[in-house]
Order: sequence, then C-alpha cells, then structure tokens
Amino acid sequence: MLRTRTCGELRAAHVGRAATLCGWVDSYRDHHGVVFVDLRDRWGKTQIAFRLDLAADIQELARSLRLEDVIRVTGDVAHRGEDRVNPKLETGAVELHAAQLEVLNRSRTPPFQPGTSELPNEELRLTYRFLDLRRRELQRALRVRHQVCKLTRDYFDSHDFLEIETPMLGRSTPEGARDYLVPSRVHPGSFYALPQSPQIYKQILMVSGCDRYFQLARCFRDEDLRADRQPEFTQIDVEMAFVDRDDILDEIDGLLAHLVQGIRGETLQLPLPRYQHREMLERYGSDKPDLRFGMELVDISGIAAASDFGVFKTAVASGGRVRGIRAPGAADRYSRRMIEEDLTRIAADFGAKGLAFFKVVGGKLESTIAKFFSDEQRQEILRAFGAADGDLLLFVAAADAVSSPALAALRNHLGRELKLYDPRELNCLWVVDFPLVTWNKDENRWDAEHHPFCSVMPEDVPLIQSDPGKVRALSYDLVVNGYEAASGSIRIHDPKVQQSVFDLLGISEEQAEARFGFLLEALRYGAPPHGGIALGLDRWVMLFCGYDNIRDVIAFPKTQKASDLLSGAPSPVDDRQLRELSIRVELPQG
Ligand code: AMO
Ligand code: AMP
Repeated sequence: MLRTRTCGELRAAHVGRAATLCGWVDSYRDHHGVVFVDLRDRWGKTQIAFRLDLAADIQELARSLRLEDVIRVTGDVAHRGEDRVNPKLETGAVELHAAQLEVLNRSRTPPFQPGTSELPNEELRLTYRFLDLRRRELQRALRVRHQVCKLTRDYFDSHDFLEIETPMLGRSTPEGARDYLVPSRVHPGSFYALPQSPQIYKQILMVSGCDRYFQLARCFRDEDLRADRQPEFTQIDVEMAFVDRDDILDEIDGLLAHLVQGIRGETLQLPLPRYQHREMLERYGSDKPDLRFGMELVDISGIAAASDFGVFKTAVASGGRVRGIRAPGAADRYSRRMIEEDLTRIAADFGAKGLAFFKVVGGKLESTIAKFFSDEQRQEILRAFGAADGDLLLFVAAADAVSSPALAALRNHLGRELKLYDPRELNCLWVVDFPLVTWNKDENRWDAEHHPFCSVMPEDVPLIQSDPGKVRALSYDLVVNGYEAASGSIRIHDPKVQQSVFDLLGISEEQAEARFGFLLEALRYGAPPHGGIALGLDRWVMLFCGYDNIRDVIAFPKTQKASDLLSGAPSPVDDRQLRELSIRVELPQG
C-alpha cells in the first residue's frame, strides 16, 4: 500500500502514531526554514511539517516542492499546539512531522490554483477541468451526486422497481427539442437519434408487463442552453402501471423524503403540497413559483378602472388587468431611478410597457401617479396589499400573458435581493392539472404542453374539440425553489383517444405512424393504464448542493455553446470516416 491514511483522516486521537499520506501540494509556506505543506486528497487536507532536524537531503527536497506536485510522506502525528489549531480543517488539531518524503510526480505550474477561492473565468476552468475537479466544491458535488444515485437505487429497489436500460441508439423521441443524430454505416442515409428521454420505451415496457420501472437515464437535447440546462443530462426516469396520479405523487414524495433524509439528515414533511396549475398562475404568475417566500400577486383592476390614471384605465378597458406585488420594507432600498431603470427593465423583458409604483410613507401612498387616485382608492390599495410603512408596491397593467411572467420575474428578483428566504431551504411542491395544450401563435397551432402522450382529465374530454385551451391534462410538475425539478403524467392508453390528441396537435395519422408507430402498435395489444415521471438528476444535485449552475454538478459539462473545452468536442472528422458513413459535408457560406 502506498499510504496508510487519507488526508482527511487524522485527529488528536492519532497523536504519537506513524502515518503515510499521499496527495497533492495544496499550499506551501517556508517559516524560518521549516517547510509547511498542506497535503490534499479527495478526503481532505493535512498539514505536514518538514522540521529542521530532518536530514539535509529531505529538507532540500521539501524546499523544492511546488503547488500540485504529487508526494508521499511518512512521519509521526503530532499536536499542533493550542494557538496553531485550525478549526476550519477537520484535521486542524494535528500535523504530520515528516520523516520521509518521496516526490511521486511533478506538476507544471497550474494556470489556476484549485486550493484557493479566487477563481479564474469558467472557460479556463473548463479547459483545465482535471484541475478544476480538484476543487472542494466540485468534489463535494460529485459526492452528493453519487449519494443521490445510490439512495435512488436503494429506494426503488426496496419498493420492488426494476432498473431497465433503454437504447441510446433509437428513434427520434417526442420531447420537443432537436435531436442529436447518429449516422448509420450499415444503412447509408439512415440515422439513429440519441434519446431526448426514454419516454416511448418506458411506455412500451408497461405494455410488456414490466410494471414499476426506473432508470438513471442519460438524455440528449439539442436546445438553447441556460444555467440550468445541458445538452446531455441525466433523468431519474420512472413509469408505473395500474396507478392513478396520486399513486405516482406518493411514490415520488417517498423518494424525496429518502433523499433529503440521506443527504441532509432532515425530515421532509409529507405529503408535499399539491396545487392546481391555475391557482399558482393566479397567485404567483408562474407555474414554478419559489414558495420560500410569499409576495403574492394582488389584482387591483377594480380600483384601477375607477381611478383617473389613463394607463390603468385603458389596460382594464381593453381586457387586461392591473396586478401588483408588495416588496416588504423595500421603499428605501430602491430609488426612483432604480425602479424606473433596473426593475422596469425586468418587467419590460416580458413585454410590459412600464412599471408603476407606490411607496408607503407615513401610512400614505407616495408616487408620481398618486394624484390620479382618490384618498378612498389609496386606502383600498393599502388594504388590498395589507401594506405597511416602508413597503414598495409595484404594478404591471397588461394582459395576463405579459403581466404574469413580468411580475413573476420581479418577484424572484426581489425575493433574492431582499433576502426574503434562507438559501439553504428546500421548498418542494407539486403543481398539477396543467393545460393539455398551449397555443403557438407563431405557427398557428396547438402544441402539447408536456408531450403528446398525456392523458386528459376525464371531465374535460368533451372540450377537446370545442375548447382545447381549457382542457386539463393529468400531468404534474415538481417545483423546488422555483425550478422545475420533475415532470410527468398519466398516459393515454387507448389508441383512439391518442389519435384524437394527435388530431388536435395537427399530427396526421401518417405522421404519427412514421414517428411513433411502434408505440401506437404496442398500445393496441393490451396496454395497462400507466403513468410516470422524470426527475432532473442534475438539477436535484444542484439544489442539494445549493449551487446555481448545473455545470458545477457534472464532471465534464459543456459550455453554453455545447462545446466540451477539455476534449475539444465537437470536432471535424476525417474524410475516410465520412465516406464510410456516406456523408458529404456542406458548410454554410460565410
Ligand atoms: P421533461 O422534458 O419535463 O419530461 O424532463 C424531465 C425533467 O428533466 C430535467 N431536464 C433537464 N435537466 C437538465 N438539462 C436539460 N436540458 C433538461 N431538460 C429537462 C428537468 C425536467 O423536469 N419524458 C418526460 C417525463 C415523463 O413524462 O415521464 C420528460 O422527459 O428537471
Ligand atoms: P407614461 O404615462 O407612459 O409616462 O407612464 C406613467 C407611469 O406609468 C410610468 O411610471 C410608467 O412606468 C407606468 N406605466 C406605463 N405603462 C404601464 C403599464 N402597462 N403597467 C404599469 N405601469 C405602466
């Protein structure tokens, strides 16, 4: 064995014993000739002291050490002395008095120091990901990720689920993003699609009687990337037969409680609250509200219509509403300029034409627009919000399609800036009964809100033809701290109902056969009622770690432009490979 202990292991109880440690030089100090090195490995850091009573050649070797060199040290564990204890380090009570030193490998001067908190830009970190991954935060993310996977497998195993792998090389799937395609050499001109999710295969597994399936599934989507999205990500994918919606939500409630207990040692209060989609939109303007804080939307359309403020009157007269939020104690925090520039810009991003505001001062409303409201109307506004001195009220007058997302974005922004919640808190809730379809005004057609296999709320079936926008699906999202952390539905198991939904979505019988024919055929051979869900594993790890960037919880992530800076993927391939695949590349001009 090269080592007898790890760098995170030694404590006061080990004092007087011998130990051999291996690791990377995390820091180096020369203190009047005594060399101190913090030695780092996956488990922690230990201080090594090369003292003046060592043989001259070992002292010289110690003085030659540079950051990130890989060494092996043998010595005796000793107390550091009261005044030199480092309470921030788990091994901070002790140090190793080196007797022997072996340099296992030298490091080039690293472009940045994994041991410090001063980070260079992310591009450099991704290029040197092997160094970046030595950082404590990333090591922690990988550990939490491992725990989430392990706890998930344990949970589903003990609930009689089977983990079944579905193909990576398959047919195009229906999640609505672009596919990553893989050319077939054997079938020139034909392509596999990497799965956007195992959706179709898991439904077929239910037809096959493989009830209670789960998989830690890799998914691939060629879509525009954001801080919480990657082109390649992992789902905790689940499907169950002979269940209704609540059976699935209960099963996932249990999984979350198991994860929260295993990772944080905390008890999650079950069942998690279940809210109607419609209600969440009305109260928070969003189908994924962050409920770590309140700040509900308040509708003052009635007061606004009766006021003398033209902007508000016109908005209500043309079918819109005037709604607002109350930022507690924020009146002094935001100057008029900050409201008119910074906050208004947030609302304007969603199409709001402006942002009206009142500050509550001495029990009264103050604003450039206050003069348009009678005393009684101002009192009514104060009452509607339950507003108190020092509060800031912000309003958007518009159609809901504009004001809901605008106010929701402002709400998130203010919640964060005003520190209205504990960032460590995990706030989980279900949003159920999403609409089945949404109107795509650019392409003049109905799009599936989730995917085309979601079952319809039984009492809404007659509306499929008459009023599609009102049809609710048996679908649900799990929302955590304002993120969509899981999504699923009860599926259609009747081919005739499935065809009527395809009709609504403008998917012809031929198109349906061409794209999902194999699922439709399977549904004709005794499909059980079934449903399922997929949790975004990367997002969960991010939430458990309290990070806000999905790239920090993936060992080898891609940039916003879907490049892997470490390996240089994607890259051109040589002509011979292309010829074998019968592919000729035509690059766009310019
Ligand atoms: P959906 O497309 O909503 O549903 O995906 C399920 C969950 O996966 C996560 N997720 C992502 N995470 C990181 N990067 C991405 N690009 C990304 N896209 C999605 C989200 C999301 O809630 N087959 C259905 C599930 C079902 O109906 O059972 C599906 O894939 O957390
Ligand atoms: P204006 O009459 O356009 O100068 O606007 C007067 C005030 O009303 C400004 O503070 C604007 O930001 C605000 N305002 C304008 N349009 C809207 C709107 N649609 N919703 C809320 N406030 C608005």
